[in-house]
Amino acid sequence: MGRIVLVVGGGGREHALTIGLLESSSVSAVHVAPGNAGTGAIATNHPISAGDVDGQVALAQSLDADLVVVGPEAPLVNGLSDALRAVGIPSFGPHAAGAMLEGSKDFAKQVMLDLNIPTAGVQHLTEQTDLDEAADLWGAPWVVKRDVLAGGKGVVVTEDRDEALEFIRDSIQTDGMVLLEEFLAGEEASMLVMMDESGFVALPCSQDHKRVGEGDVGLNTGGMGAYAPAPVATEAVRARAISEIVEPMHEHLSSQETPYRGCLYVGLMIDEDGAPSVVEYNVRFGDPETQVTVPLIASDLYELLLAVAEGRLAHSMPTFSTDHALTVVLAADGYPGPPVKGRSITGDLSDYVDSDGRAFIHHAGTGTIDEKLVSTGGRVLASTGIASSLSEARNLAYQKLSDVQLEGSHFRRDIGHRAL
Ligand code: AMP
Ligand code: GLY
Repeated sequence: MGRIVLVVGGGGREHALTIGLLESSSVSAVHVAPGNAGTGAIATNHPISAGDVDGQVALAQSLDADLVVVGPEAPLVNGLSDALRAVGIPSFGPHAAGAMLEGSKDFAKQVMLDLNIPTAGVQHLTEQTDLDEAADLWGAPWVVKRDVLAGGKGVVVTEDRDEALEFIRDSIQTDGMVLLEEFLAGEEASMLVMMDESGFVALPCSQDHKRVGEGDVGLNTGGMGAYAPAPVATEAVRARAISEIVEPMHEHLSSQETPYRGCLYVGLMIDEDGAPSVVEYNVRFGDPETQVTVPLIASDLYELLLAVAEGRLAHSMPTFSTDHALTVVLAADGYPGPPVKGRSITGDLSDYVDSDGRAFIHHAGTGTIDEKLVSTGGRVLASTGIASSLSEARNLAYQKLSDVQLEGSHFRRDIGHRAL
């Protein structure tokens, strides 16, 4: 009998997961809640928000889902996987206590320090702290992090002392405390690790482009594009990251009463000697990293995610293709500030295939009004190319993106620049 999967979320990541799951021969139907116009075209959307834990559990039960795949962090932190497991439904994504690795940067730091995992030093700043003394400890650049879930926007990295101090004071006022981190120099890479108590496997490393502007300048965003595999994560770097970062964390998480079952996203900073350290952990697939990573999984995605949800990954290890993938995000007017929504998206959004590879659109902030496609969020969609080389993947992605029009939108023209 065909398997039924519920994907929770509505971004480009969830569209990529839906596409991957539908390629599995054992899957007969994918449901997405809330989904977007892209998932609605290939699967069944349900108007239940990702953060509505009770609503998602009720939906999974009414669908008789064989597996739930949770995209975003908020429902994980709020116990969606715990609630699903309590009613006997396998869930891909950690339990609430495991999700604290993303839910609290302070908690994650403490775990890393306890396990001797390489990461930046940290100071806790409150109303009692002498802020000038704190700012002088490591000097510029200052890395200030609010300890709240802020969609990648609660962090300020700046050479400007006044800007840093202002953000520090504002954050202490709203949150009661803020973290000041030692600056790590180097190049970033994202390592997505499938993990349960039986084992773990790192997917091909990717690189996200977090700044809004070309040349990696301007405000931080949720991610303006990504590519994989990222050559900065050489075999030697991966081996070090696995032995120094992933193995101790896996051992720790597997020794807990409830084991971690899901994706552990390790945000790496790789210094010029190839030494990796942890910038952050997330407890979910990355967005847009998923759009360039899932297409490189050659084996059955449903079997992989179900195996993790059931704690038997070690017997169901995935295989990977040798392709390259690159995705370019099309952002709405105003993003990363408040985006203009409700504008119509026109052009040719259909898949493109030629002898070099293929390109297609991952929807994110899209919806339909009167059967017309409109923008509904900041990151509207992403154009993704898959080919045997990174430069071909890039050409395909940009060529496909040129077929799409959205008034006032913007995208970066230099995705993949560090590797090309
Ligand atoms: P986070 O939300 O912790 O991933 O931080 C967002 C971005 O800020 C990261 O992707 C990095 O580009 C930058 N960042 C965060 N922490 C550091 C650090 N300690 N040193 C240098 N850059 C950092
Ligand atoms: N692209 C960064 C993230 O998913 O957190």
